[in-house]
Formats: sequence, structure tokens, C-alpha cells
Amino acid sequence: GPTRLWGGRFAGGPAEALAKLSVSVHFDWRLAPYDLAGSKAHARVLHRAALLSDEELERMLAGLEQLEADVRSGAFTATEADEDVHTALERGLLERLGPLGGKLRAGRSRNDQVATDLRLYLRDAARQVAAAVVGLEEALLGLAERDIDVPAPGMTHLQHAQPVLFAHQLLAHVHPLARDVSRLRDWDVRADWSPLGAGALAGSSLPLDPDAVAKDLGFSGPVANSIDAVSDRDFVAEFLFCAALLGVHLSRLGEEVCLWATSEFSWVRLDDAFSTGSSIMPQKKNPDIAELARGKAGRFVGHLTAVLTMLKGLPLAYDRDMQEDKEPVFDAVEQLLLVLPAMAGMVATLSVDGERLRASTPTGHALATDVAEWLVRQGTAFRDAHEISGAFVSWCDARGLELWEVPDEDLARIDTRLTPEVRSVLSVDGALAARSTTGGTAPARVVEQLAALRTAVAEQ
Ligand code: ARG
Repeated sequence: GPTRLWGGRFAGGPAEALAKLSVSVHFDWRLAPYDLAGSKAHARVLHRAALLSDEELERMLAGLEQLEADVRSGAFTATEADEDVHTALERGLLERLGPLGGKLRAGRSRNDQVATDLRLYLRDAARQVAAAVVGLEEALLGLAERDIDVPAPGMTHLQHAQPVLFAHQLLAHVHPLARDVSRLRDWDVRADWSPLGAGALAGSSLPLDPDAVAKDLGFSGPVANSIDAVSDRDFVAEFLFCAALLGVHLSRLGEEVCLWATSEFSWVRLDDAFSTGSSIMPQKKNPDIAELARGKAGRFVGHLTAVLTMLKGLPLAYDRDMQEDKEPVFDAVEQLLLVLPAMAGMVATLSVDGERLRASTPTGHALATDVAEWLVRQGTAFRDAHEISGAFVSWCDARGLELWEVPDEDLARIDTRLTPEVRSVLSVDGALAARSTTGGTAPARVVEQLAALRTAVAEQ
């Protein structure tokens, strides 16, 4: 029959409906490598506490190694009858070692075990996610560098606002991603504490050594309070916040790529390998990667909401509700590790239509601010300069002209302060070069920004 880790006081097995409801092995099996690492560390601590002899420790570790190899090769798998990963692995150990396998559980509860396993899993996962984010940052940096000379209409309210370098816009997506990586590193500082040794909730009457176990598993030390050790899921919620915000950043980038790739914008073309066709419309080239990135963001926000809501009313210490913490994080990790490389590939292979961007940049009177600021430099108050430039714009609108198409005599008719010298700012290159404040879009500033980001990303 099934190996249960409990049952001594029970008259019979659980009802089928209960067994079906409570089983988690189909998703927590991912924790097997971490559970085995925790078991080896625990075995060494039991040995130091004289609860395992030298010979027993040796056999125990050999049994765990064998089990680990069998898990890796697939020779040992969990079955439906195993309640969770911890139960399945104890069965595997008993099958390999006989009664000795039953000694490992001393001083340990699934409550401290699962909290430890999940921290170990997530610390690994966070490093993988961070590496994948760096991959996307590098793709954006590569594109920015390749098309460093291309201007673009900078937008607010999705309307032409002021000219920018397209590279400046791309780099504006790198900074949030760099903060995401930094946030994951900060998260690790708080996740870096070991719950093992807390037992069910109160610590142990056996002479265990939570400090040694923590060091053995690569943690800075044990959690200072055994109740907190098994109750705390801050590391889950905070990881999910990192994932949700990263998801939002991917979504905003995805949305821009969708816009840029439309027939109306046509700023970029997607590579065939990173776009999809339609089953009925032969001409279609769809930005599915960007759309999936946008769509997944909702899922990540949902996972964060699910876990925070699950935790909010829970009394300390462990409650079974907390088993609901795992599927959200597993899904967040797995989806991020799918979407990030796809986004990186899509960005790295975008082709940018520099001519179309250059032609489109000054349209929509995007140089009107430059006219107003030129007037300010001539001594006009900004309030008046704004009015004059506005009159210039409406003059053009009434006649279907762009600002630079208005002859000198008409400039003077709009306002005498609009002398022919204003033409010096009625060019995209002039407008770009003029915005040379720190963080601005002047080409010299963007080149500096790119170099600084390259260094920062390489150090991530
Ligand atoms: N499978 C459980 C979880 O994921 C861990 C086991 C603790 N169960 C218990 N009844 N104390 O949280």
C-alpha cells in the first residue's frame, strides 16, 4: 500500500476524496533535488548528534546518492499514491535501505522541510531568471548600438511629442530590466536563511545543529525563530512581486513592439523565426511573442495576488493552505524562462526601418517645443513663447504645412519674434543635439548611457 508519513493513530486510510484533494506530488516533485540535498545535510547532523553511527551515516548517504541518481535517470518516480515529494522520497529511501531509511526523519517535519526545499528551489530559479533577463538586456543593447543614429518620434499619450533617438527609447526598456535583476539579488539576501531544524514549529528536543545544516545548504544561517521558520512565505510573495513587475516590464516592451510592427507605424519588421503566420490570411506576420509577453503579465500579477490572499488570514505556524504557495511560483518561474529567451531572440532579430523613422520623427509638429525653447533663449518669457509656437502650429495646421515649410515672410506675419534664425532648430538633428542634459536624448548622452549600461549589465 502507499507509504504515508502519518497514520499511527488513524483507524484506516484517508477517504479517496481527501487523498485526491491533498496530493501535491504532481507539482512538488520539482523539489526532489532540493529535498535530497536537505536530507543529506540532515543525515550529517543526526550523525554528529550521535543519532546515526558512522556506518549508518555512510549507508544513509550512499542510499540518498543512489536515490538521487535514480530520480535523475527516471528509474525512481513518484506515484499517485505518494502524497507529496517528501513522502515519495522517503518511500524511495526505505526501498533502498530498509529500516535504516526510517531513521532520517528524526527531528524533522515536512513543515521545516518544505520551507527549506522551496527556498533552495527559488534561490536557484531566481538566478536562472536573472540570467535570462540579462540576455534580454543584451539584446536591447545590441539593437540600440546597431541603430544608434536612428531618430524616432518620442511619444506621450501615444502622440508625437518630441524627437528622441530610437536607441534612447530602447535603453529606457533596459533600465527597468536592470532594476529587476537588482531586485532579485536583493530578494536573495532575505531568502538566504534556513528553516531546517525548526521541526514542526518549536525546534527539537534532539541535539540537532541548525547552524551547521544552514551552512551545509549554502544559507547564511538558520531562521532565528522556529515558528517564523515554518510560517514565513515572504520569500514566495516577494519573489512573485519581482516576477509580476518583471512581467509588467516585458508587457510594456511587448506592447511597443506590437505597435512598432503595425502597418500604420512600420518602424520595425519581425524576423520570420520570431513571428507567426495566419491560417487564413497569407500576408500576415504576427508579433505573437510580444503578445504572449503582454498576456503572461496578467498571470504573474494573479500569482502574486493568489499567494498574498492565501497568506493574509493564516494563523501561525504551518497551515495546509500554504501548500497553495507552490504552483504559482513554479508557473511564474517556468513561464518567465520561456518568455525571456523568446523576447531576447525577437529583439535581437528586429530590423528597424531607419528611413521611415527619420521621416516620421518631425511630423505632428514634434519640433514645436524646440521653437518655444529657441524663443526663450532669445529672451522671450516661456509663457509667451508657448503662445507664439502654438500660433505657428495652428498656422501650419490650417494650411497643411509642416513648421519648416513656412516662408520667412509668413513667419514674421505669425509673430515678429519668429526671425529666420528659428530654422536652426527646425531639424530633427538640431532638436536631438540640443537635448544634452544628463539623461537626455542628445546622441552624445545616449552613447554615454549605452556604454554605462553595457558595463552595468556585464557586472550583473
Ligand atoms: N505538502 C505540504 C506543503 O506543500 C508539506 C507538508 C506539510 N504538511 C503537513 N500536513 N504538515 O506545504
